[in-house]
Amino acid sequence: MCGIVGYIGKRHVVNTLIDGLKRLEYRGYDSAGIAVMENNSISVIKAKGKVSELQKKVAEKLPASASSDISSGIAHTRWATHGPPTEINAHPHTDNSGRIAIVHNGIIDNYVELKKHLSAKGHKFVSETDSEVIAHLIAECFEGDIVQAVAAALKKLEGTFGIAVMCADTPDVLVAARRGSPIVIGVGNSETIIASDISAIISYTKRVIFLNDNDIAMVSAEGIDIRSLDNVPVSRETAHIDWDAEAAEKGGYEHFMLKEIFEQPAAISNAIRGRLDETQANGILSGLNLSAREMAMINRIVIASCGTSMHAGMMAEYYFEDLANIPTEVEQAAEFRYRNPIIEPNTLVLAISQSGETADTLAAVREAANKGAIVAGICNVVGSTIARETGQGLYIHAGPEIGVASTKAFTCQVAVLLIMALKFGRGRRLSRHDGMKLVEEIKSIPALVTQVLEKASDIERIAKKYADAEDFFYIGRGYLYPVAMEGALKLKEISYIHAEGYHAAELKHGPIALLERKVPVIALANDIPGKDKMIANMQECRARKSPVIATATIGDEEIKTYSEDIIWIPRSSQLITPIPTVVALQLFSYYVAKERGCSIDQPRNLAKSVTVE
Ligand code: M6R
Repeated sequence: MCGIVGYIGKRHVVNTLIDGLKRLEYRGYDSAGIAVMENNSISVIKAKGKVSELQKKVAEKLPASASSDISSGIAHTRWATHGPPTEINAHPHTDNSGRIAIVHNGIIDNYVELKKHLSAKGHKFVSETDSEVIAHLIAECFEGDIVQAVAAALKKLEGTFGIAVMCADTPDVLVAARRGSPIVIGVGNSETIIASDISAIISYTKRVIFLNDNDIAMVSAEGIDIRSLDNVPVSRETAHIDWDAEAAEKGGYEHFMLKEIFEQPAAISNAIRGRLDETQANGILSGLNLSAREMAMINRIVIASCGTSMHAGMMAEYYFEDLANIPTEVEQAAEFRYRNPIIEPNTLVLAISQSGETADTLAAVREAANKGAIVAGICNVVGSTIARETGQGLYIHAGPEIGVASTKAFTCQVAVLLIMALKFGRGRRLSRHDGMKLVEEIKSIPALVTQVLEKASDIERIAKKYADAEDFFYIGRGYLYPVAMEGALKLKEISYIHAEGYHAAELKHGPIALLERKVPVIALANDIPGKDKMIANMQECRARKSPVIATATIGDEEIKTYSEDIIWIPRSSQLITPIPTVVALQLFSYYVAKERGCSIDQPRNLAKSVTVE
């Protein structure tokens, strides 16, 4: 999500750090900062906004003449997760003595209790971040050996991290470590670079070492010493990278969209992390400022959103009604704002928005608040306008989504909304047994998505076969109906093929007139309730000569009789199967668009964030 750079060696340290941050900026850029080692003391400079803002500040405070004594440094570009994007919340964070500085990617799950514990010992915290706790914890464990202090601190951390650390008492080394968040070390001649991603390294050296979870690396200009948390030396291979800088930004993927599709197992893990209470078989919604009683009083949910986020809302409608028995409606935000919606005292209005800036969704939030609704946001961008104005809600923690076509934001929205429905359901009619079953199912989502991604080449082959079509229909029923809508949206926006998402039963009421040999139908025929009806719809399509491409549950051989091609989806319940299925449809759209030579990350006429009406 965020970007880390650390440098020790012969180059101009400040310039090298800023250059590295610029190369990582595509990952998120709400604020940035550097910490540098100068004559055995650490100076920290931070700025809100893009790296260029930091660069201006650095030029004022550390002019080139003054920065020649700087021997090493660490730097960070932030994509906020805990606390809004302010200068104080920007990294690096230091302990109270200012002799230890850290930069961190990831999320520390137990930071609240650690903060309490450290505060009781006299540590003073200045930011709202989870990350600051790491600097204080290392300081608390420091007895002269920084590597030992980092190891001791990491044993107490729960969650994910990639970190770089500097300590004024050991100015000739930097320390890097990871658990669940990548750290790669570039090995140069008399210089070493730490980064969260090779794009910050590649213009200096192509020789890199990828740290494994729980590795701690002591890094100097002359080399690297890697140890386990228990101080046992470990050896890691040096890899040779032959990507250029642009390919490195995309992690070697040809497009951001593809990278983001493949990031989904990790993104969904982030979205659900810390939100499942396995003891109570429940969801944890700490971003909602509602007591259990207030939650129990909610008797209607209205969802306002646009585009892909609206399709996530359609999924949530099924979840809230089935699991929690709460009547739920999904409104196009643009309609909601103008059509005088009925809002009662116990109506919860949920605004779903990846960017948190969509003009129509924001207007719906304001209209709902005016009418006295309880309003909450489901956003990706921390500190975005919708997140701020709703004042409560849940971040989906998908990380920056750069491709205009939304992919990982959708699956993370759906995962978070399912957890929300679990929580509301447990407060109503959902039994502990059913709650526990659902908790286990939610935990399985990243692995199910991985299974789909492993079969990407099969989907690519099918996509190439149909890439010449000029019209497509996507049909689904029940939980797969919103997925049909989303699949069609994905195809049309990046491949410019006319595609319509329909409820399978609705075909007969008009659209069937358009079916013919040149109009393929994607039928979502996974083995969930309604499959028999879907089979009947597939036969109707084939009778009109439309080729049918089915999504089907692995092992369901029967579907072969009713379709030309099959995209196989691993078995899961009807609540869960929409998520791996939509991932398969994202891949299908991507490969069709690629075959047609389209501009996948920036399709014509579209913007990532629609801030006008
Ligand atoms: O940022 P938001 O989630 O509010 O954006 C809503 C839509 O503009 C967005 O989902 C759009 O439909 C995407 N291009 C879909 O891929």
